[in-house]
Amino acid sequence: MDGGAKMNDAKKTLIDAAQRAAQAAYAPYSDYQVGAALLFEDGAIITGTNVENASYGLTLCAETVAVARAFGEGRRGGLTAVAVVGPKDKGDGSPITPCGRCRQTLNEIAGLGGTDPVIYCVGNEEVREVALSQLLPHAFGPDHLAPKG
Ligand code: THU
Repeated sequence: MDGGAKMNDAKKTLIDAAQRAAQAAYAPYSDYQVGAALLFEDGAIITGTNVENASYGLTLCAETVAVARAFGEGRRGGLTAVAVVGPKDKGDGSPITPCGRCRQTLNEIAGLGGTDPVIYCVGNEEVREVALSQLLPHAFGPDHLAPKG
């Protein structure tokens, strides 16, 4: 198996994990189930789903939940790839991209390990691959808070 095929396997595995995660989404208000899966350098995959609330504004996105779970498991960096999947039967079918807050949240854990993860944005017909740095250029991150010197 060549390197390219292995890469495709990893990508498919990650997207499958996000798709499975979406099945556990708690989205009774929007009926828009999202799954996210984070891949780390050691091969670990950590998933999240959106978690809505009767107080709508308290909703947590799938990516943010996945990042919180990763931090809770002691992860500090090492993020190499992210897959985000939404419902196939909603919207125009274009690839779903992380919202602004999720980009910032992903940047925190990525920045700690100095990686620029690829984001697999899954749509009905295509998977858009973008680097986090493309989605969040000139990001504010941990380095900005470091003491001078
Ligand atoms: N949502 C996510 O979980 N991730 C995104 O990247 C975009 C939006 C959720 C929030 C809300 O529960 C539902 O999708 C509709 O906005």
